[in-house]
Amino acid sequence: MDRFTRTHFINTLSGFKSVSLIGTINKVGQSNLAIFSNLVHIGADPALIGFVNRPTEAAPHTLANIQATEFYTVNHVHQDIYAKAHQTSAKYPEHISEFEAVGLTPLFRPGISAPFVEESKVQYVLKLEEVIPIKLNGTFLVVGSLQQAFIRAEIMDEDGFLSIEKANSLCSLGINGYYETKLLEKLPYAKA
Ligand SMILES: Cc1cc2nc3c(=O)[nH]c(=O)nc-3n(C[C@H](O)[C@H](O)[C@H](O)COP(=O)(O)O)c2cc1C
Repeated sequence: MDRFTRTHFINTLSGFKSVSLIGTINKVGQSNLAIFSNLVHIGADPALIGFVNRPTEAAPHTLANIQATEFYTVNHVHQDIYAKAHQTSAKYPEHISEFEAVGLTPLFRPGISAPFVEESKVQYVLKLEEVIPIKLNGTFLVVGSLQQAFIRAEIMDEDGFLSIEKANSLCSLGINGYYETKLLEKLPYAKA
């Protein structure tokens, strides 16, 4: 396969991913926003969520800001904002805020330095716990602990399950396919 065909093939092989915008800020108050799909649940107690950051030459700003200021927001992408969210993956210089460049609204909450995406319906803030370098290819697994979540009440079921399809949260495939989701069924806990 040529390089581009191979990249698409490999990027899509592991399947659909949730797609979110990560909001950060540096020490002098410059905001940054970038789209990430390689987010993963690490554990529920303590509540840990990770994401894979590409090598710093390719994707420098999010990781540098997180290492400088520790706190970062994760904001689900829905149908009305996915094209703008996609545009945040362009290589903007450090002094440009992707919020302004793509037309999304930064939302600052008391006591939290990093900006949320106001348009997003599922938002949470993480505190950096660990950056684990993956030596094989220069990427990083960035692990954060959940600090607070901001969720529309109608999305959360009585048992705490978040029916995020009600917020029209999307998933992505590779780096350019965006998909809606539909619940088939919620099954009971499997027992032997
Ligand atoms: C749908 C989609 C998913 C992406 N997922 C990731 C990801 O999981 N990790 C990553 O490092 N970059 C990912 N990217 C690329 C980043 O958005 C891009 O490198 C961005 O410019 C990083 O910005 P930063 O330098 O501000 O951190 C993705 C791009 C798209 C379009």
